[in-house]
Amino acid sequence: MIDQLKQLLKKAITEIESVKSPHELSEVKAAYLGKKSPLQEIMKTMRDLTQDEKKEFGLRVNEFKQFVEEKIDAMRNIMEERIIQDKLNDETIDVTLPGKKVPTGSIHPITQIIEEIEDVFIGMGYRIAEGPEVELDEYNFELLNVPKGHPARDMQDSFYVDENHLLRTHTSPVQARTMLHLKGKPLKIICPGKVYRKDDDDATHSHQFTQIEGLAVGEDISMSDLKGTLSVLVKKMFGDDRKIRFRPSFFPFTEPSVEVDISCFKCGGKGCNMCKQAGWIEILGAGMVHPNVLEACGYDPNKMQGFAFGVGIERVALLRYGIDDIRNLYANDLRFLNQFVKKG
Ligand code: DAH
Repeated sequence: MIDQLKQLLKKAITEIESVKSPHELSEVKAAYLGKKSPLQEIMKTMRDLTQDEKKEFGLRVNEFKQFVEEKIDAMRNIMEERIIQDKLNDETIDVTLPGKKVPTGSIHPITQIIEEIEDVFIGMGYRIAEGPEVELDEYNFELLNVPKGHPARDMQDSFYVDENHLLRTHTSPVQARTMLHLKGKPLKIICPGKVYRKDDDDATHSHQFTQIEGLAVGEDISMSDLKGTLSVLVKKMFGDDRKIRFRPSFFPFTEPSVEVDISCFKCGGKGCNMCKQAGWIEILGAGMVHPNVLEACGYDPNKMQGFAFGVGIERVALLRYGIDDIRNLYANDLRFLNQFVKKG
């Protein structure tokens, strides 16, 4: 019987050692220690033994069980260890491999110019003001000294939403909104935003474009403040050597009104194809706020004056980057836009 037990143990050990999975190991365990194992058969013969032999045999059976159990546990540990190791090997990351490039977005050239101009004016104590793109006729025209039937309404052929509402044709209505809000207090604001006109789209026109309006109102504001302020702006935008000049012009909301030219940044003023041999390039409209506008917006024109200006951002972009078609700025073609990615 003891021999039988020894043989059974040998068999068990070989089987345990050749097992391939934890599942097989459980099967082997059941086969050798379970209710239907050959061990039970051997134990049935115990009743034929003497008392001493029984004791001896009992000890051996316990040794057998303990040995097989320990062997199975050891095997299970080895197997689990191996599974973990295989998994680790599979999942090893080679940190020396080159990474995949994640393309990053960048700021649109129009927004870049707006942000640059905002920085210049914030540095001079201005605040940024905003207004709605669907505007009341009252703010877009009436309060800005453009009454119904005024020819300037034709200059800015508009998209009307209903009798009183239109897509704003310029950012100037934000002037009126801010003045009415501040009720006679001095102010310095710039207002960036989208504007709309019934223009046919071509290389230099777009039915939707972008402007920045500027307005400063106070007790001692003169035309020379306007000139100084705009000088700072054009130097930042087009280089330190730029000069500006004022040409008389007309806008209903300013008196006097001027067109502002900058000395050509390509030829420095000698004359070239960029400035059409003039040496100067028209860049924006400006003027001293019309007394009618001040009054309509709650300011006493005898005590306060102000200057205002309006810059077309697309115009700045076309000039500065030598873009020949304004539509490129709206087409969202990355081959075009990638030229303007700011490095770093
Ligand atoms: N609103 C004008 C336009 O859209 C631009 C402009 C000219 C704005 C003169 C002003 C200004 O504030 O003073 O053409």
